[in-house]
Amino acid sequence: MAELLRTNRLLVRDWSAADAEAALKLFGHEALRRWAPEIADLPGIPDGPDATVMQEVLQRWAAEQRDMSPGTGRWALVALDGGALVGAISLLPMPVPEADVEMECQLAPEYWGRGYITEAAWALAQWAFEHSLVELFALVPPDNTRAAATAQRIGMEWVGESDKYHGQSLQVFRLRPDDLANAVRNRPG
Ligand SMILES: CC(C)(COP(=O)(O)OP(=O)(O)OC[C@H]1O[C@@H](n2cnc3c(N)ncnc32)[C@H](O)[C@@H]1OP(=O)(O)O)[C@@H](O)C(=O)NCCC(=O)NCCS
Repeated sequence: MAELLRTNRLLVRDWSAADAEAALKLFGHEALRRWAPEIADLPGIPDGPDATVMQEVLQRWAAEQRDMSPGTGRWALVALDGGALVGAISLLPMPVPEADVEMECQLAPEYWGRGYITEAAWALAQWAFEHSLVELFALVPPDNTRAAATAQRIGMEWVGESDKYHGQSLQVFRLRPDDLANAVRNRPG
């Protein structure tokens, strides 16, 4: 299981089939499914917990990871203290245009309000900029105030509202290296 990076409190690493039970619990949270349609549609989630199906999903993610463009991927977020799977974070090609990259993240509700995603998103964005990305985006439903606040905490700039992604109207936030550097006052830790 390849480790991508560590922050003060989190390990960002590849998914493995051994995460299936913990991943089902994470992605099964109603609060995550509400805001992340791609999670609600994951095989194994809508029809009730199925660890075998989740294992297949995680194996597919691990296989796809090997062929993904530099600066993109899907990773598990693990608490360094105790080793619990606390969330998920990804950098994935956007549907239009395909060259753009979207950061997506999910955190188990019991860990909200600790700055975990700010910490992980910050470190991952820095990694992405070191691996050839020049900008990245977040697409946030208008009433997802937590996700919008996290985007702004790491320095993302609101660039507009669009209905060309994921079949719904979404707030578009963009992050460039200078934005991340200028948001240093918010830096976790
Ligand atoms: C979006 C989501 C990841 C945000 O989680 P979060 O814990 O609020 O995010 P952050 O890591 O930015 O934490 C910020 C909170 O931690 C607090 N915090 C504590 N220590 C902190 C630190 N060291 N650094 C930053 N914030 C800290 C902040 O004050 C803030 O608290 P508040 O909620 O009372 O305002 C989470 O709500 C989630 O998984 N939602 C469902 C899925 C989803 O919407 N994904 C995004 C799709 S676009």
